[in-house]
Amino acid sequence: MKTHLFSSPPDDQTLIFCASLLREGKLVVFPTETVYGLGTNAFLEKAIQTIFEAKGRPQDNPLIVHIPDISLLPVVAKKPSPEVERLFSLFSPGPLTVICERAPSIPPIVSAGLPTVGIRIPAHPVAQKLLNLAGVPVAAPSANLSGRPSPTTFEMAISDMKNRVDAIIDGGPCEHGLESTVVMVREKKVIILRPGAITEEMLREKGFDVTLTEDISHEKPLSPGMKYTHYKPRAEVYLYNDRDEKSLESLCHRKKIAIVGISPPIGPWERVIFSDVASYARGLFATFAHLEKKGIEVIVLQAVEEKGIGRALMNRMRKASGNRWIGAKDETFSE
Ligand code: TXA
Ligand code: MG
Repeated sequence: MKTHLFSSPPDDQTLIFCASLLREGKLVVFPTETVYGLGTNAFLEKAIQTIFEAKGRPQDNPLIVHIPDISLLPVVAKKPSPEVERLFSLFSPGPLTVICERAPSIPPIVSAGLPTVGIRIPAHPVAQKLLNLAGVPVAAPSANLSGRPSPTTFEMAISDMKNRVDAIIDGGPCEHGLESTVVMVREKKVIILRPGAITEEMLREKGFDVTLTEDISHEKPLSPGMKYTHYKPRAEVYLYNDRDEKSLESLCHRKKIAIVGISPPIGPWERVIFSDVASYARGLFATFAHLEKKGIEVIVLQAVEEKGIGRALMNRMRKASGNRWIGAKDETFSE
């Protein structure tokens, strides 16, 4: 398949064209403030099927449906509760996905047969315009091949999706760089299924009773995506704590190593330095892509405090590393 590539900023004609592709059930990669999404018309079952194929995504992992504003909520969600409406009115447009009861107009394949559906109102101006022009809800997972880090730049989206989709729109690097916060409301409690830029602290500040999925045990994962390995670059990835900095010295010198963080120590390795936790979060996935291109074989990530956006960053870094820490217990590379 030949992919149309549109550079930034896309003009009105480009967006009108891409919106018509979406309506017809073609595949369009578009920027959002979190990561790039791979979208199509959420009403068309056959089109949804092609998303799973383009990504190589397991069919039991549900997609998020994107709408331009809250007025379209009743089209995609059945009887949204007052808490759901309050979440949208406080945090949307923005990096929040709310699990709602699926409306009959949305085919079951979108949410892998679940009675629920994840809904998001993205804030990125290109996504906003595109969704308004499309005039239909757009189902869109992150635009990466299944299991790979989500694309946060046009180049990353091209590298995973060129010749697999009809169009890719450049919207520049994504503002947050990590996927949206996914929440579910149960008995008035907000359960965070995936941490993101709308943080636990922000939700509490607005008076919500917040629970983290890590704090509740359940036989069946609440979010099917949680059981899959995610965000994996090709290099081996490890985490380290500042107190274990000494263990970094014992890193295997035959390998090409990079240490990534806010204060990575000087040593016989490449260093990627971020000024704060928000820019670390914003740059993590693009750093994976950049280091991969350079042939780095081992990536060591400096851990951060699990508060604010640091919680989402640690969540993605734990997944990328398989939660393997350098210097933990007796082993240098611990599993
Ligand atoms: O920031 C984002 O959310 C991006 C942009 C493109 O909007 N999208 C994204 O989609 O990250 P995806 O498909 O890569 O991740 C969706 C996550 C998965 O972990 C999935 O299991 C969960 O949301 N999810 C979707 N629908 C769900 C549902 N009905 N119930 C529980 N979890 C759901
Ligand atoms: Mg994804």
